[in-house]
Amino acid sequence: MPISPIQQTGAVRGHFFGTVTANEWLCREHYRLTVEVRDFPRSHPGQFAQILCAPDAQTAAVPADAKSLDSPVPPWTELSWQPAQPPPHFHDRFFTGAAAYLRRPFSIADRRDRGATATTTHVCELDFIYRVIGKGTRGLESMRPGQRLSLLGPLGRGFDVSPEIGPAILVGGGVGIPPMIYLAKVLHEKKIAAMALAGAQRRDLLPLKISPGNGPPAPIPTPSLTVDEFARYGFPSMISTDDGSLGFKGYVTGMLENILTAFSTDQRKRAVIFCCGPTPMMRATAAVAAKFAVRCQVSLEQPMACGMGTCQSCIIKYQPPGQKQWVHKLTCTDGPVFRAEDILW
Ligand SMILES: Cc1cc2nc3c(=O)[nH]c(=O)nc-3n(C[C@H](O)[C@H](O)[C@H](O)COP(=O)(O)OP(=O)(O)OC[C@H]3O[C@@H](n4cnc5c(N)ncnc54)[C@H](O)[C@@H]3O)c2cc1C
Ligand code: FES
Repeated sequence: MPISPIQQTGAVRGHFFGTVTANEWLCREHYRLTVEVRDFPRSHPGQFAQILCAPDAQTAAVPADAKSLDSPVPPWTELSWQPAQPPPHFHDRFFTGAAAYLRRPFSIADRRDRGATATTTHVCELDFIYRVIGKGTRGLESMRPGQRLSLLGPLGRGFDVSPEIGPAILVGGGVGIPPMIYLAKVLHEKKIAAMALAGAQRRDLLPLKISPGNGPPAPIPTPSLTVDEFARYGFPSMISTDDGSLGFKGYVTGMLENILTAFSTDQRKRAVIFCCGPTPMMRATAAVAAKFAVRCQVSLEQPMACGMGTCQSCIIKYQPPGQKQWVHKLTCTDGPVFRAEDILW
């Protein structure tokens, strides 16, 4: 199946060969991978990329017309696999070795663009924040600046950010925090007021920069400009940890309840919760949103194989608005962002 930029819900996606520019340790088990990509299409917070995580396999993924990694590779290119033929550029080691052969999905955590000029092409730097949990993320951990990285993207449907939102409440848990950083940037650009609630099991598993210049995180939930990733946009934030090692002791939904309790009816009507994190946390957030009648969008992190609507490994039960019958939806192409009330948790 050729993989090429296609029109999907008005957005282009493609197969890109980027260059790793940084792979920075953030906190225990968490890294920020920065990849420079030429002509990466417009993307939205909540969208993700399917990354080939094995350092060795990047060579195998280079198409036939790229003679070597040193030769110019187009910014995006088609994989020219023929049906009923083995992929020509993938060798045995690729399938049987210790490396991850299926791509892994990662949310876009940020992007910085340098526009095209008369003499240069458009270049963008993409950030991905990942936690090392298995074969694929161990492969990513070993990537070094200068190495080539194959990625497919931008994939899926991102958050629906309409201008009448106010305020936006970003709720991120664990590896659900990265898309919130990108979302904060876009909300700031659209001049939408926001606050962020970020939760982790323990302080050392929080991939965020807590600025000492802004004072210590409050033990009782009080929004403050403490977390750099949100403070740079003027957005206050609050931290929760399950064990109380930083900020509010308990779940992020506890803080959310406190915030919404203090909101007026009018504020609740205008507010929108944007949530990403482990399924139990998103389910609990959806329940809090329903209790206070606040709109809520969730970005599901269902395990995925293809990421492009082919393998059906990412199905969820979805209740179309106003209908009694539920249907299956694909997290990768129908989502990963859905309205919380439409998901059968
Ligand atoms: C749309 C989307 C966006 C994502 N964004 C990020 C991100 O920004 N940062 C990040 O660190 N991770 C993110 N993830 C999760 C990430 O894809 C997995 O952590 C990664 O695929 C694990 O690969 P691995 O080979 O290291 O682990 P594996 O060896 O494949 O798995 C190790 C263990 O983790 C479990 N596991 C794997 N994937 C998931 C999952 N999605 N949910 C729950 N358990 C899982 C496996 O069942 C296994 O027990 C995202 C997932 C999706 C679907
Ligand atoms: S991941 Fe293959 S269909 Fe969704």
